[in-house]
Amino acid sequence: MSRKRVRRILVVLALVLTSCVSFQLGLVWNSRSYSSDTVSEEPREELNDKGRLQEMVFRELKIDPLNSTAKSSSFTTTSLSPQISHKTFLITRRSCMQHYDLLMIISSSPGNSKRRKIIRKTWAFERSAKPRWTSVFLVAQTRDEAVSNVLLDEDEAHKDLVRASYYDHYWNQTRKIKMGFEWAVKYCNFSFLLKVDDDVFVHVPRVLSFLSAPTTPKKMFYAGNHYTNPVPFRGGKWKVTYEEYNETRYPDFCPGFGYVLSHDVVRAFVDTFSSLPFFRLDDVYVGMLASKNGINITNNVGFEVWHPPQYVCVPTKDTLVRHDVGEECQMKMFNLAIFLQ
Ligand SMILES: *[C@@H]1O[C@H](CO)[C@@H](O)[C@H](O)[C@H]1NC(C)=O
Ligand SMILES: *[C@@H]1O[C@H](CO)[C@@H](O)[C@H](O)[C@H]1NC(C)=O
Ligand SMILES: *[C@@H]1O[C@H](CO)[C@@H](O)[C@H](O)[C@H]1NC(C)=O
Ligand SMILES: *[C@@H]1O[C@H](CO)[C@@H](O)[C@H](O)[C@H]1NC(C)=O
Ligand SMILES: *[C@@H]1O[C@H](CO)[C@@H](O)[C@H](O)[C@H]1NC(C)=O
Repeated sequence: MSRKRVRRILVVLALVLTSCVSFQLGLVWNSRSYSSDTVSEEPREELNDKGRLQEMVFRELKIDPLNSTAKSSSFTTTSLSPQISHKTFLITRRSCMQHYDLLMIISSSPGNSKRRKIIRKTWAFERSAKPRWTSVFLVAQTRDEAVSNVLLDEDEAHKDLVRASYYDHYWNQTRKIKMGFEWAVKYCNFSFLLKVDDDVFVHVPRVLSFLSAPTTPKKMFYAGNHYTNPVPFRGGKWKVTYEEYNETRYPDFCPGFGYVLSHDVVRAFVDTFSSLPFFRLDDVYVGMLASKNGINITNNVGFEVWHPPQYVCVPTKDTLVRHDVGEECQMKMFNLAIFLQ
């Protein structure tokens, strides 16, 4: 076949795919399989701006703070998991309605709705009626009222936000993963959890085949880009003081842009929260949890922190999770990944 012909075929294929995707979007988004939540206790929190935050939490929960019996019609009074008390800042009580082989929790900040939108259209887009995987975004609170309102609308439309009651901040990522893990364990049935950031690309079909491979342990499993014998930075952006951490090495860990944990590991981590002091770097904190629970790391080159320059916006033969993928790259990587299973 001539090059020109091949190009024509590819263009037609791309057009067909794009229109299929747009057609299905409406169907799938309307049928995300979560139940409604119920609302009960006030979240406990130790916060500065307490009054203001509480007001937002009430809005989030759709409770009139002056009348605790009043509930909005969008919440039911029953739940699959009624009255479970939370030990983190978690406030969402929505449950998964089925078992998933893979639950992806995507760390995102309140203002990043454009990134979330692109992710929903690309790799986090569920095609099948009974999907093997699902995804949620972990988002805390913002002092910006306009953004806060957008978030409420976004959650109502997509029902895929897992919310916490603290204010979102880069140095509060540990609180975010703690509430995400708690939500996963208490409200969802899954075999593996993939934690990612909202600036990554995930090759979902490959992640699923990696996890179902006979060589992949189904328990005691923690995989990612294995950092061995990591040394704490004592300067720069990730500077950690001796008061915060006084050892010369961290336990091994995987960088936070993407790692996989088996269900038993997430459960063990949630049970260990209370016996481990807060540590600001969330990925190091996960390494500490793993070390405390005797979990070893499985290295996988598919968790790509860096990639060769000729692979900008292009998956390699190994890509499971690619770090630092901008909005402009997501669609391109997603389209290429369809051809490169
Ligand atoms: C509280 O809410 C209930 C149920 O919506 C309503 O009947 C009642 O009048 C409200 N009370 C006050 C003081 O607003
Ligand atoms: C992180 O959240 C805690 C708990 O709400 C809050 O006290 C703290 O100020 C937040 N940190 C930053 C840096 O915003
Ligand atoms: C998980 O699945 C089991 C068995 O199917 C069910 O009893 C349980 O309620 C489910 N839990 C959640 C949180 O969905
Ligand atoms: C390091 O910190 C731990 C806990 O904060 C403390 O028990 C220990 O004495 C410290 N070690 C040194 C050498 O300062
Ligand atoms: C983890 O690795 C250490 C050192 O190689 C080994 O002794 C230990 O048995 C391993 N633990 C598990 C749970 O595989």
